[in-house]
Amino acid sequence: MTLAAPPQPQAGQRIRGSRPKPSGSCVFVIFGITGDLSARLLFPALYNLAHNGFLPEEFAVAGFALGDMNEDQLRDSLAKDLREVIGADCDTAIVDRLVKRLRFVPSDFDSPSGWQQLHQILEEFDKTYHTGGNYLYYLATAPQFFYPVVKRLAEEHLFDEANGQWRRVIIEKPFGTDLQTAHDLNSQLLTAVRESQIYRIDHYLGKETVQNIMVFRFSNGIFEPIWNRRYIDHVQITVAESLGVERRGRYYDKTGALRDMIPNHLVQLLAVTAMEPPSSFSATAVQNEQVKVLESVPPIDPEDCVWCAVRGQYTSGTVGTEPVIGYREEPFVDPHSKTETYVALKLAVDNWRWAGVPIYLRTGKRMRKRYTEIVIQFRNPPLTLFRRSGASMPSANRLVIAIQPQERISLEFESKIPGPIVEAETVNMNFDYRDYFEVEPRTGYETLLYDAMIGDRSLFKRADMIEAGWSIIQPVLDAWGEDHGGPLYEYPAGSDGPEAADQLIHHQHRAWRASS
Ligand code: BG6
Repeated sequence: MTLAAPPQPQAGQRIRGSRPKPSGSCVFVIFGITGDLSARLLFPALYNLAHNGFLPEEFAVAGFALGDMNEDQLRDSLAKDLREVIGADCDTAIVDRLVKRLRFVPSDFDSPSGWQQLHQILEEFDKTYHTGGNYLYYLATAPQFFYPVVKRLAEEHLFDEANGQWRRVIIEKPFGTDLQTAHDLNSQLLTAVRESQIYRIDHYLGKETVQNIMVFRFSNGIFEPIWNRRYIDHVQITVAESLGVERRGRYYDKTGALRDMIPNHLVQLLAVTAMEPPSSFSATAVQNEQVKVLESVPPIDPEDCVWCAVRGQYTSGTVGTEPVIGYREEPFVDPHSKTETYVALKLAVDNWRWAGVPIYLRTGKRMRKRYTEIVIQFRNPPLTLFRRSGASMPSANRLVIAIQPQERISLEFESKIPGPIVEAETVNMNFDYRDYFEVEPRTGYETLLYDAMIGDRSLFKRADMIEAGWSIIQPVLDAWGEDHGGPLYEYPAGSDGPEAADQLIHHQHRAWRASS
């Protein structure tokens, strides 16, 4: 089967003002192609793009990595993984086509012969598949290779754009390990390549429901007037995972939940929830507003870290019905590790819209269930009108934006229980994506890869956004690094995290929304 040409724009299909132009021809070059990311996410995303007609005919993939596989073995392995990830409905013609158009450079990133081979492959692709000298590089490598590979690409003139060609690089996380290293990496990259060619990826921005937050906020007249400190009591953002660290113990033990999840994914959710309306949906306008709101988050005072930042580590337990080992027993994890697998933070946004509204973030591995949601909790009514009737204090209204695995928006409000007594109960008004739209299987990378191919940077991060994310957590990193913060609490796998995280929010007479 041939990969279909991308469909023409249709009004109203996408969140950005103008529908993108067709993705056009290119070679997708994956550095570190033999790793997990390619097999689990990038190839499935390419498959889904092809399946939905978003990949052009003039498209091919080149891989560069040190490994013990040759080209045929890599093709077989990626095809097998792809069939497994896509499942029973897998269209083998698409799989065959993707792997047939794959060439592999099995080399380390220093080797002159490896780069020579890459040049040859790119030239061949341009001739055979008319890929036009347009190259999209993807750094799916360990972070220490980000700058060396970008520098080498520049030295090899593989960033030179002439005669309408484009050359772009997508950079994965972790982008630095703290504010200083992120800043240094940004400066280094900019010595080799222009900012407009850099696409810093955060796959949370590829999630439909995350993109929908902006549409929900800025396309609906009824919510924006109440989206502020006068009506909102607080905001909770939860990213709970039921999985443990799996095969990533080596990376995770050096990283921890705070670095792994907060400055990127949770801070990004905070940005789309709290930003001001942009003047347009252009990349610059959206990114300007996101940076502005992140820069309004005051760094946690080091003295307050003890109670404003809670860390935990899972011990053995049961997730669902499955008994699981504790973090310190996981492969490649130090048996005495003090790395946190859970973190909860209380933040604020010091601007006119949000002053005085606490923002609570929490994320953890091996939690009771997997769910990501944003809860906007509104203030209580000014008085309890029904108190003399014996009715209890009403619960506050909540708007719950469920991001995964359910994709839903629901409004919780009070309703009278039918009968002679005045009694109220919380009920839900629900919008579920699946009731209205056909939800295609996706990894979250499809939109991002497609956008990088068409040169739309609005869902990617600018250097200042990355640094703003790190600035928010830097005092906590410092405190924990010096062992000044609160203790590392244990929580059993399969629970809702350490009790200290409940105290963090109870302290202010609030509670985490219990997920059913
Ligand atoms: C990654 C983290 O960035 O995001 C992982 O490194 C985490 O540790 C993952 O599991 C969560 O992504 P998602 O899309 O499953 O919520």
